[in-house]
Formats: sequence, C-alpha cells, structure tokens
Amino acid sequence: MMQAISAKESMTREQYKMHLKDYYDRQSAVYSATYTGEGRYPTGHHRLWISLAMIDAIEPKPQTVLDAGCGDARLIVELSKRGINATGFDISDGMIDVGRKILKEHDLPEDRIAIGDIYKIPVADNSLDLLIALGVLENLDHHDELFTEFRRVLKPKGRILISLDNQLFSLFSFNQYTIRFYKKLLESIDVPTEERNEVLREMASWFHIEDIEQIDRIIGDHQIQKDHVDIPVYNRLSVDPELRPFGFATERLRFYHVHPLPPRFEKKFPELFRGFAEKLETSDYDWRSSLLCNCMLVQAVKE
Ligand SMILES: C[S@@+](CC[C@H](N)C(=O)[O-])C[C@H]1O[C@@H](n2cnc3c(N)ncnc32)[C@H](O)[C@@H]1O
Repeated sequence: MMQAISAKESMTREQYKMHLKDYYDRQSAVYSATYTGEGRYPTGHHRLWISLAMIDAIEPKPQTVLDAGCGDARLIVELSKRGINATGFDISDGMIDVGRKILKEHDLPEDRIAIGDIYKIPVADNSLDLLIALGVLENLDHHDELFTEFRRVLKPKGRILISLDNQLFSLFSFNQYTIRFYKKLLESIDVPTEERNEVLREMASWFHIEDIEQIDRIIGDHQIQKDHVDIPVYNRLSVDPELRPFGFATERLRFYHVHPLPPRFEKKFPELFRGFAEKLETSDYDWRSSLLCNCMLVQAVKE
C-alpha cells in the first residue's frame, strides 16, 4: 500500500522512486486505457503511432533497440512487426507482468523485457543503436544523470527517442501551469516578492484560483506527487541547447496530445477534446502544436 505523504514532507530519491513504482504497479491493470481512451484522450495511442512513424524514418534502420520504461511492452510488439527485435525494461513488476502476457499473446519471448532502473540501464557501454523512453522522463528528476547514462549505452551515432512535457503549453493552458510558468520566470529575474505576488494573485483571480498559495497544492494533487521533485521542463527552443552538453544533437521534434482549447473547456466541450482534437494529431510538423500539445517527442543523435 502506498503511504500518503503530505505535500510539506519531502521524499528521498529512493522514496520517490518507490512511490512511482507503486503508482505504476497499481496502474498496470488499467494502463491500456491510455491507449484506448475509454472516454478520455488516448494519449498513449498517439504517442505510439507518432513514435513509430519517427522510427520508420530513421536511416539506417536501427538493429539494437532498447525501450526504457517499456510499460506493457506494446512498443516492442509493434517494433517486432517491423523486423526490429527490441528489448525493454521497467521498474514496475506490475507493468512487466502485463507486458509479458502481451508478448506471449503475440508469440514473442517473455524474456524480451525485465525489471530495471533507467538511472542504471542494464546494458553494456556503446551497445545500442536506439534508446527509447516514452512517458518516462516527464516524471523523473536528475535528467543530467539520465542523459549521461543514455550517452554511455549508445553506439557512436546512436539515437535517443524520448518524450518530454512541452513547457510552452503552459502559455496556452490558462490555468495553474500558466501561473507557475510566470512564477518561475519572475523568480529567475529577481522581481521583488511583493510585486511578483501581486502579478501572480491577479493572474490567479482570472482563473478563479483563490490564492497563489493554492497553485502548488493543485498541481501536487495529481496522483504522482511531483511537487517532491524538481523535474526539468523543456520547449522546442530550449531542448537542443539542453542536450548539447551531453553530446546529443536534436534531429526531429514532434508533438502529441493536442488541446484544441485550454483545458478548462474540456468538461463543457468533450467532443472537441476527443473527436476534433484527433484531427489535429499529426506526425508532421505543425507550428500550432508547439503551443497546443502538452507533450513532445525528441529524436537526438549521439555526436
Ligand atoms: C507512462 S508509463 C509509459 C510506459 C511505456 N513507455 C508506454 O509508452 O506506454 C511510464 C513507465 O515508466 C516506468 N518507470 C518509472 N520510473 C522508472 C525507472 N526509474 N526506471 C524504469 N522505468 C521507470 C513506469 O513503471 C511506467 O511503466
């Protein structure tokens, strides 16, 4: 059973790792809903097909492929249909159990996936053509360690395909994330506290949030207690300079999980959020996606 930890208490790295593992162990039974939607947006489905389109375009075709945080292994199944014998690992036993069942259903060996931790990738140096991590880094901190580890396991000219939260979406969402964006911005340029809080309070009132103090609480209410960790955020302009020091050059960016309207309209116009939004999902580049999508896919090559 997961321990409820109040937002004020902090978690150690190990506790946060276990908190995530527990969360995904519990999620494993219902995880397929992120692909089918079941009334909600099928985020996993769009992430999967856009990723596959990106992988299909990689030349030469990658041979040694590892899916880090592989979840229920469905990407591995799709890759095997393309003649790529990928392997994978995940920290959650629950996810690995479901993944093994799915592999079996597709006549693939269950030992294609195993338990493992992305901070300590269970493969040798310089051994991979492609390392994939979809829906994983968005919940993890210490990205510097992850990028160093990715570099270690890739062959020269090997690639990463990772998903990250799209920071620019904050500007479009007109909610607590917009306020948090400005909060961080004003802090970074040392705007005096009083002035900063005045701006943020007024902004909070636009969105019917009673007080800026509420902001972190609202965000922290999410089942994954991200307020305990400092998760780096990226946007289309910052991601390449952030990856360069780790020896990666960005090759392609794509976006997914379109919001045709700011999230506060979702309850009122559910059809817009499901049916019409999907018309905007595309594996091609559309500048509007840089604002309308809350997630991006980044393909980068080891230089
Ligand atoms: C949103 S799911 C994505 C699963 C899969 N990649 C997909 O695209 O459907 C995130 C996955 O990351 C895994 N994960 C979280 N922390 C991890 C860690 N430190 N090492 C390996 N996997 C981790 C979770 O157990 C979970 O299966």
